[in-house]
Amino acid sequence: MGLGVWEITSGRISLGGVLAFAAILTYLYAPLQELGQLRVMVSAATTGSERIIELLDAVPPLADAPDARRLARAWGHVRLQSVGFAYPGASRPAVQGFTVDVQQGELLAVTGASGAGKSTIAKLLLRFYDPDFGRIALDGVDIRHLTLESLRSNIALVQQETLMFHGTIRDNIGYGSKTATDQDIVEAAKAADAHEFITALPAGYRTVIGQHGHGLSGGQRQRIAIARAMVANTPVLVLDEPTASLDSHTFDRLLGPLRRLTAGRTTILITHDLRLTANADRVLVLSQGRVVEHGPPGELLAASGPYRELHMLAR
Ligand SMILES: Nc1ncnc2c1ncn2[C@@H]1O[C@H](COP(=O)(O)OP(=O)(O)OP(=O)(O)O)[C@@H](O)[C@H]1O
Ligand SMILES: [Mg+2]
Repeated sequence: MGLGVWEITSGRISLGGVLAFAAILTYLYAPLQELGQLRVMVSAATTGSERIIELLDAVPPLADAPDARRLARAWGHVRLQSVGFAYPGASRPAVQGFTVDVQQGELLAVTGASGAGKSTIAKLLLRFYDPDFGRIALDGVDIRHLTLESLRSNIALVQQETLMFHGTIRDNIGYGSKTATDQDIVEAAKAADAHEFITALPAGYRTVIGQHGHGLSGGQRQRIAIARAMVANTPVLVLDEPTASLDSHTFDRLLGPLRRLTAGRTTILITHDLRLTANADRVLVLSQGRVVEHGPPGELLAASGPYRELHMLAR
């Protein structure tokens, strides 16, 4: 403005010219501000793309053997034979001399204190790691000789904290199968006791849930996880503490869905909860990576061994 006044007094510009200049100048602010924002966007995008490139460059720790076989649908016989495994860099093994034969359709519960090696068994079965000793076989075939894709399409995993994706409930359930129809999804949700709460949501199955399942309760997320495993319809199930984060009322509501899910499937149920082990065909008690007791839950309860001890502690 000062410069404008100076120019007017020296007769080099008119008043109208100065006012027009000032008016047009305001148009410049917004683009300038946007330029500043652009810098922030570019730096965020650079960080994001660095992470994407890192992910694309990552080599899976375990790859298919050159002669790996594709297994269509397994019958469901799981055998772990003298399995020993220590995590890289760990001083002592997480699992030692672990042997168990799980028959098709059997419900095997694995229990034991924290750190006993229970989740490690689940990770070995899904080949997140390979054992250092012994072997794991599905239908008599060493799982190292199967393609990872075909191994994992035969085993469904339900964990304590279920991974949810940003997307609709329908997609979160259907994630278990590439070919699931809307009807399959609804049937699975009904069997998982989830249909009722889903249809009560404003957009029903089309409701978008945030990452980590924000907007759903712990029990609801677990019922979605069970529906997802139902849709995946695998012959083998690994359940790792599926009820651990739930209160007692929510736990009770999960029992029916869990029973329907495990019926007819070979199930390895890892749990601290002795109300769950009571329904198993067989129980294994682990301590420091070793099996310290095994047998039907009723028999173990009658014996005065580690299982009974856990029972007394839980009461
Ligand atoms: N990624 C890892 N790296 C190194 N050591 C690990 C790793 N995961 C587990 N461990 C160790 O292996 C042992 C067995 O762990 P695991 O997770 O199998 O126990 P858990 O029986 O599932 O326990 P919890 O009941 O607490 O889930 C523990 O001593 C644990 O500290
Ligand atoms: Mg665990």
